[in-house]
Amino acid sequence: MQKLKILTIPATERDKPMSYNNILCECVEGVANVTVNRPDKLNALNTETLGELETCFADLGKDPEVRVVVLTGAGEKAFVAGADIGEMANMTGNEAERFSARGQALMDRIENLGKPVIAAVNGFALGGGCELAMACTFRYASDKARMGLPETGLGLIPGFGGTQRLSRLVGRGRAMEMVLLGNMIDAVDAMAIGLVNKVYPAEEFTDSVGIVAKALAAKSTLTLRVALKSVGEGLEMNQASGCRLEAALFGICGSSDDAREGCSAFMEKRKPEFKDS
Ligand code: COA
Repeated sequence: MQKLKILTIPATERDKPMSYNNILCECVEGVANVTVNRPDKLNALNTETLGELETCFADLGKDPEVRVVVLTGAGEKAFVAGADIGEMANMTGNEAERFSARGQALMDRIENLGKPVIAAVNGFALGGGCELAMACTFRYASDKARMGLPETGLGLIPGFGGTQRLSRLVGRGRAMEMVLLGNMIDAVDAMAIGLVNKVYPAEEFTDSVGIVAKALAAKSTLTLRVALKSVGEGLEMNQASGCRLEAALFGICGSSDDAREGCSAFMEKRKPEFKDS
């Protein structure tokens, strides 16, 4: 039988079910499914939704029952069509800077959650939506997805880390082209430039992403946390420093119960039973 857990608010309100206005969040057998749920506005990120995502991801990071997160958008059309343009229309410079810093902090939290976060890009992922997807550990797209950073068309630039993460993912020239022109690309082109890892037919999308999430949930959370740190932090270092970091982290893994179990299970031709320690 499937184990379903509705995630709860931290600290004082632990017993009450989590109630959000703009997102859905539930955990089934170690996989937390987070859905941005404003389909009539193509799941655009207004400030209330940003706040709910902040709370939700803070909680997911701390919850030991959550081993992997899948992030997607509600409805047929969109993952997230960007930050809420209506809210941005009349911002002052100071307000815009604070808005950017707040969005960046959320993206950093997701990127540094210490657990894999899969972006399941089921439709439009534009502006802040594309930035949200890029903050995830990796991205899968349905063949209906369209991605881009259209902010220059609004007289803006990407402000939730997009100018930084896109160039790291796809390289300087492609990033410059996407940021400056603001054009949308389809899922196949997004895969060709390395913006998404794989494209699935829309009909199979949820199940296909679910299979990957389940495979990640079966691994040791300790091992995955260390792997995330090694790749993530190493990318910001020169190679020699990154290799020193890797050796130190390999040492942590090497002395863990899960390394003993994983290697013994291989030798004994059985499935490992990890204890996350
Ligand atoms: N912020 C606020 N509202 C948004 C939005 C956003 N980023 N993206 C879509 N919406 C709203 C629309 O205003 C519309 O609301 P309404 O029905 O009350 O008028 C609703 O979502 C549906 O969008 P609509 O434009 O009618 O759908 P479409 O299929 O014709 O076009 C898009 C889809 C994605 C091409 C178009 O909505 C779009 O260009 N959105 C903005 C994308 C963007 O610039 N994002 C970056 C923001 S920084």
